[in-house]
Amino acid sequence: MDFELKTLSPTSAAGLTVDALLVLVPDTFGAASGGPLNELVASAVRLGDLESGVGKTLVCYRAPGFKAARVVLVRSGSGSPANVRKAVAAAVALVKLPSVKKLGIVLSLLPDDGQSVRAAMQACADATYTYTTTKPSAKGRALQRVTVGVGKVAVVQKDFDIGKAQIAGVEFAKEWANRPANHATPSMLAEAARKLGRKPNIKTEVLGPKQVEALAMGAFLAVARGSVEPLRFIVMHYAGGEKGASPVVLVGKGITFDTGGISIKPAADMDEMKFDMGGAASVLGTFAALAELQPAVNVVGVIPACENMPDGQAIKPGDVVTSMSGQTIEILNTDAEGRLILCDALTYAARLKPHSVVDIATLTGACVIALGGVRSGLFSARDDLADALHKAGETALDPCWRMPLDDEYAEGLKSNFADMGNVAGRAGGAITAAKFLEKFAADLPWAHLDIAGTAWKSGAAKGSTGRPVPLLLQYVLDVAAVPRSGIVNKSAKPTRRKS
Ligand code: BES
Ligand code: MN
Ligand code: ZN
Repeated sequence: MDFELKTLSPTSAAGLTVDALLVLVPDTFGAASGGPLNELVASAVRLGDLESGVGKTLVCYRAPGFKAARVVLVRSGSGSPANVRKAVAAAVALVKLPSVKKLGIVLSLLPDDGQSVRAAMQACADATYTYTTTKPSAKGRALQRVTVGVGKVAVVQKDFDIGKAQIAGVEFAKEWANRPANHATPSMLAEAARKLGRKPNIKTEVLGPKQVEALAMGAFLAVARGSVEPLRFIVMHYAGGEKGASPVVLVGKGITFDTGGISIKPAADMDEMKFDMGGAASVLGTFAALAELQPAVNVVGVIPACENMPDGQAIKPGDVVTSMSGQTIEILNTDAEGRLILCDALTYAARLKPHSVVDIATLTGACVIALGGVRSGLFSARDDLADALHKAGETALDPCWRMPLDDEYAEGLKSNFADMGNVAGRAGGAITAAKFLEKFAADLPWAHLDIAGTAWKSGAAKGSTGRPVPLLLQYVLDVAAVPRSGIVNKSAKPTRRKS
């Protein structure tokens, strides 16, 4: 699907040759006259056919003066990016037809706003996305070209470009997360990362079991040993910034299937544990977006990838393993495997002298209970980093919510047989998981995003959301724009703009 940005006045919009034209009508629309579009909207409002309320629509067929056979008027309320997203999603759903290959989205009745343009583009992409890789009978996306009409192209051009890259990233993440586990093994994820490594400024390294053993990643190895699929440790470098400038490090949980291991999960909905590599998918997706945008910043993606399976070789409850950091862990529940692979990845990340480290993981069912599917859980002891990530989520309409990290929450992780246990009871489960990870973040400017509730949808619309690619991309772009603000890792060199 190609996007195109055009300067369109309300008058010229009617002349657009597309199969369907969506017109966003803000509450502020007065009784403007002149041209078929203004007149259509004015009479639809006057006659009460276009009700007020964000997302309310009116489909007009062969409206006089329009080139497009279908014109959909849709209410966009205040015209905020969130309202624009809701409006476009509602309107696109009405013209999701095999015969609609060219679509126009007219934002010209709204003030020009880059975030609204991005929101409109992402909403259109989300509403028309179809997964086909293992379902050849599914009809792919019919839509081929989307023309976004605004008051003045120059005002929103940059955000339009970001919007295109964001969609590429989100769809990359959706594709990999949606693939069933036998079509998205650790080796296949590594191959996808290698392919991204052929794009400008990206290099991919892939480590196998021998090299991971040499690095002494005892916790990661412990999870992987129950599967016949060999683990992969994927490291991607995007070098858009100054040479040697400290990178933003994104660490993604890459459990390609989580059975729970010996602490096996119940059968109901276990298929959804193919999405347990949603964190890894979001890192891959962010790199796909970086490849397109080429911002002036250094980013490293780190993905520990393996399956969590029960087997004769599998780790058993009570087993004690030594992590790469040297700290020992009593594995009381083999289903708390995400933190085991992430803790070694965090120790590895510390070597990169990072600007900041953000891990992204479908880590706990408890986070789904706490925040549902609206906001991802955000954990960080650093106010500067937490604020930056929170702000990025708001901007990109991919929100998160900060959760506490009081030391009292770590009490339950105490063990008589190791430096710590890997679980701490049911209460506050998302927080105790974060406290476990914090023990491996040392003095890093570290944050953790628990995306267990936001990475995918269940039910009839089961599928990956591609979240939190929009948040991560926005955060990285914010760092590129203001490299030395906020987050300070005293032991690392600041990320700098390419001069
Ligand atoms: N991948 C799961 C978390 C999960 C569960 C995400 C359900 C989304 C929906 C994770 O590996 C896990 O199993 N966590 C356990 C931790 C517990 C054993 C302390 C959980 O949340 O039940
Ligand atoms: Mn698990
Ligand atoms: Zn898991």
